Amino acid sequence: MAERQFRDALAQFATGVTIITARAQHGFIGFTANSFNSVSLDPPLIIWSLARRSRSLAIFEGAAQYAVNVLAHDQVELARRFSHPHTDRFAGVAFRLGQADAPLIEGCAAWLECRHHALHPAGDHMLFIGEVVAAAHRRLSPLVWHGSRYRVSQPGPEGRDD
Ligand SMILES: Cc1cc2nc3c(=O)[nH]c(=O)nc-3n(C[C@H](O)[C@H](O)[C@H](O)COP(=O)(O)O)c2cc1C
Repeated sequence: MAERQFRDALAQFATGVTIITARAQHGFIGFTANSFNSVSLDPPLIIWSLARRSRSLAIFEGAAQYAVNVLAHDQVELARRFSHPHTDRFAGVAFRLGQADAPLIEGCAAWLECRHHALHPAGDHMLFIGEVVAAAHRRLSPLVWHGSRYRVSQPGPEGRDD
């Protein structure tokens, strides 16, 4: 299978956009991720993956806890900043530290604080499974990633579908 075909098919899968953060020895690390997903309700587990070539890999591998920040519709600039090289991605970013001692960025649609549960190598990525110790949300439209572009979601019909 050609890589282009694989990438183009994946691009049709719309996802939210997160910034995953953790404390490092001197400051904090964080990067933009759309590989985040739910795994289990009991216990509450989530998953995400990080490229093995990532500069942050060693720190996340050693992190006992981290936070997943689910971005709101008006946080495109943060998504861009945390997916590009930057001397200090957190400069000027408003955040507080939660239970997991990791940055919880202001203005997000949701926050999930996790402790390390499992780590699995998978091809050129590393899979991280986290156990959620705290979660919170605000009723904001999320930022969406679809077709290799950021988009803003529109509210659907009234009512829940879950
Ligand atoms: C919308 C979007 C989603 C991304 N999702 C992931 C992801 O899930 N895993 C990953 O390793 N890189 C992902 N990336 C790329 C990283 O954000 C980017 O390579 C970042 O620089 C990695 O952090 P580092 O510089 O600390 O290695 C994504 C980029 C974008 C724009």
